[in-house]
Formats: sequence, C-alpha cells, structure tokens
Amino acid sequence: MAVIPGDGVGPEVVAAQLEVLKATGLSFEFSEYPAGDNHLEKTGQAMPDETIKGAQAAQAVLFGAVGVSAAKVILRLRAELGTYVNLRPSQAFKGVPCIHPQTDIMVVRENTECLYAGIETRLTDDVTTATRIITKTASLRIARHAFEYAKTNGRKKVTAVHKVNVLKITDGMFLDCCRKVAPEFPEIEYEEALVDSVAMRIVQRPEEFDVIVTTNLFGDILSDLAAGVIGGLGLCPSANLGDEHALFEPVHGSAPDIAGQGVVNPSAAIMCGAMMLEHLGEKQAAQKVQNALETCLTQGKTTRDLGGSLSTMEMAQEVIKAMD
Ligand code: NAD
Ligand code: IPM
Ligand code: MN
Repeated sequence: MAVIPGDGVGPEVVAAQLEVLKATGLSFEFSEYPAGDNHLEKTGQAMPDETIKGAQAAQAVLFGAVGVSAAKVILRLRAELGTYVNLRPSQAFKGVPCIHPQTDIMVVRENTECLYAGIETRLTDDVTTATRIITKTASLRIARHAFEYAKTNGRKKVTAVHKVNVLKITDGMFLDCCRKVAPEFPEIEYEEALVDSVAMRIVQRPEEFDVIVTTNLFGDILSDLAAGVIGGLGLCPSANLGDEHALFEPVHGSAPDIAGQGVVNPSAAIMCGAMMLEHLGEKQAAQKVQNALETCLTQGKTTRDLGGSLSTMEMAQEVIKAMD
C-alpha cells in the first residue's frame, strides 16, 4: 500500500485511518511517500518521481490531502495512475446532525478531462482562455461505469448532469454518450438535468437523486455541495478507479484553518480505508470498519464539526473499540 499523507490535515486523517486499518488484523505493508506544499518547500518539488513510482507499484494508494500544490500532485497522480472514475458518495448517517437525513447520492465524476485538461492561455493582456475537453471515449466510459455501478449496487436511477444550454457541443456530446448507454440498462431509470438546477435541488430535495454522472468540474463542485447537506466534508470519502490502479482520498482538502489542532474529522479517511478494503476483496473487513464508524457517528462519538468533543485520534480509537 502506498500512503501519501500530504499537507495540513492530510497526515492527521491518514494517521487515524492507518490505526483503524491496522486494527482489522489484515497484514498490509504501508510505504509512505512525500508530496505537496511541505515537500515543495523542502526540496523544490511538489511531486517527486519516487512518489509516482511508488503509487504505480502499489496494490492501492491512500492519499490524505495537499494544499496549494494540489493540482500538481493529485491531478498528476490521477493521470499517471489512469484513474478515470471518481466515485464520491454522500450518504447521511443516523444521528448525525444535517440538513437532509434522507440523502444518499453517489456522484460518479469523470476524472480525466473537462476544464482539468490544463490548457490555459493568456491570449492578450486582456484575454485569457481555458479549454474544456470532452471526448466520446471518456464520456462513454464514465456513463457505462455509472450505470454498471447503479446496477451492481441496487440503485434505481442515473441522472446525467450537464449544461447543454450553453455548452452545446461539449455537453451535447457528453449527453449523446449517456443516451447511448442508458438503453443498455433498461432496469435503471435515466434522467437528464441542468447543473444549476441540480445544485438547487440537492439543497432542497436531495432525495430526488440516486446516482449522478457528470463531467469533471461539475462533479467536483456537486460533491462538495452534497457533502454540505449531510453534515460536511468530514463525511465524504472518494475512490479514484482505473483499469490498473486505485487511489482513495477524502473529498476534502488540507483544511489549513483547522490543521495541527488534532480536531479534524477522520471519518472520510476511515471510509476511504473501507472502500480500499472492499476494492481489494476484503469485504468483511470493509463492512466491519464501516459499521464501527457508523456506530460511533450514531452515538455522537465524533469530532467537533459534528457537535462531538473527541480529537481525531480519540475518534479513531472509538472506531477501533466498536470493531471488537
Ligand atoms: P477544504 O476541504 O480543505 O476545507 C473546507 C472547509 O471544510 C474548511 O473550513 C475545513 O476546516 C472544513 N473541513 C474540511 N475537511 C474537514 C474534516 N475532515 N473535518 C472537519 N472539517 C473539515 O477546502 P479549502 O479550504 O477550500 O482548501 C484548502 C486547500 O486544500 C487548498 O489549497 C486546496 O487546493 C486544497 N485541496 C486539496 C484537495 C486534495 O488534496 N485532494 C482537495 C480539495 C482541496
Ligand atoms: C478534489 C479537489 C481537486 C479537484 C483539486 C485540489 C485539484 O478539489 O479532489 O475535489 O478539483 O479535483
Ligand atoms: Mn474538490
């Protein structure tokens, strides 16, 4: 297992995650690799080759968070590992204070293109541009993944989220691809919706959504939005998946406003651990970690962002106790 703790709260949530993973009794080897702002300051490099190689050689990668060098680090990793899917669940937990306790949304985010292509130009002193790339290959692939996900996980509906009223050609193609795939899954309801109104509906009526499939930037924004209605970013893990590699990271960033205080919520990172176990075929252990975490959340054994009083490590210890 390659472990990239990163900056800010990254190392804090990863430490908690590793404690929980070690308590499963499974014998993983964890090799730590540097990346991020701190490493940049020390060495002049945010993303050392050694870290890329370590991640590529590993069975799976656990990532914490990095700060301002995030684009150089996490986008590079996603590209080098060929992880074209980003699964971002936002599920409300019993007993956790939130706006909408019935929320259970899986955002299936395209993870390789869109405005993340990195093509920005300063044309003149006045004019700058960014290129939004949408390909048929990536759109068909993500649409298929979303429907497959829905089918194998007992989900009922896939909503393709777009902005085709403005982005006629790019989102036109994205939607064409979703429409091509949808009939291959007749048991799954298919719906299309504009991203702006989806944002409003997630705030008011998140229960209208099940699986959302969308392009890279909309997926980034909607996953933080969905986190907001279930209690915050401390509760949202994510899985970056490709044909050969898998990287698990919380949806949140390095949270510099609370870093170093030992109060960051480790739940997202702990759920990343459970997602990794599931991915590796360790279903029982994955379920055990997830159940233990949910027990703690339900009993209010949480960090202060959810109204609890535990430190990050105390919460990890409570999860471990609940696993026995
Ligand atoms: P953020 O996700 O770091 O924090 C947003 C807010 O949510 C903050 O108030 C923070 O304290 C709170 N928060 C986040 N995670 C939490 C947790 N687990 N428990 C409790 N509270 C939590 O977003 P930001 O502040 O906009 O970005 C900070 C830095 O992180 C930026 O430099 C950004 O580029 C980077 N970033 C990195 C990643 C990544 O490494 N994958 C992801 C997102 C942002
Ligand atoms: C995320 C982050 C990254 C993204 C940034 C840090 C490059 O916001 O993982 O959600 O936009 O994908
Ligand atoms: Mn984000």
